[in-house]
Amino acid sequence: MRLSGKLSLAVLISGRGSNLQALIDACEDPGFPAAIKIVVSNRPAVYGLERAQNHNIPVQAIDHKQYSSRETFEDALSDALERHAPDLICLAGFMRVLTPHFIRRWEGKIINIHPSLLPAYKGVDTHARVLADGGAESGCSVHYVTAELDSGPVIVQRRVPVLPGDTPDILAARILEQEHIAYPEAVRRIAETMNG
Ligand code: GAR
Repeated sequence: MRLSGKLSLAVLISGRGSNLQALIDACEDPGFPAAIKIVVSNRPAVYGLERAQNHNIPVQAIDHKQYSSRETFEDALSDALERHAPDLICLAGFMRVLTPHFIRRWEGKIINIHPSLLPAYKGVDTHARVLADGGAESGCSVHYVTAELDSGPVIVQRRVPVLPGDTPDILAARILEQEHIAYPEAVRRIAETMNG
């Protein structure tokens, strides 16, 4: 355990927040080395915000459509985050590309979950592309966020088979189950590394 206590997390979402829920559940175990301080969504009124509120976690919606540029949106995001001094910013289904302006501000402190075995299938529509290629397996990756999309160092990966009859939705659901294990595991590993 860090001398200063648990790792402080900020979680950024854009939607239903099932990975957020996995992190909330993990953090409710008293032995887990992290705590969620704030959840921010770039889309108002998404279910993920409700999940956080159900667990008395502070939430904020910062609607990117209200800002004239990516940078002004990111400045508002940074202002909200700074008030909670997070050790780690967890992107959990956060579907807004972050520019170097934001990434430099939080260098080395942003992680993301992506539904493929990176470096394969960066970007969107991963499951359809895996199926079109006839791949035998897929999975998920938790990785550090760097300026290049879906390219930072991988922290945890979990693999699943691609099965006959899979559709993008069926494969996505099989991978999502593994995401819910991978994300808390990645946070735990980072906390342990920071604790030395
Ligand atoms: C997850 O499958 C996550 O890996 C994916 O969005 C979903 C969010 O689900 N993220 C990306 O594709 C990022 N490029 P959730 O809101 O239920 O956690």
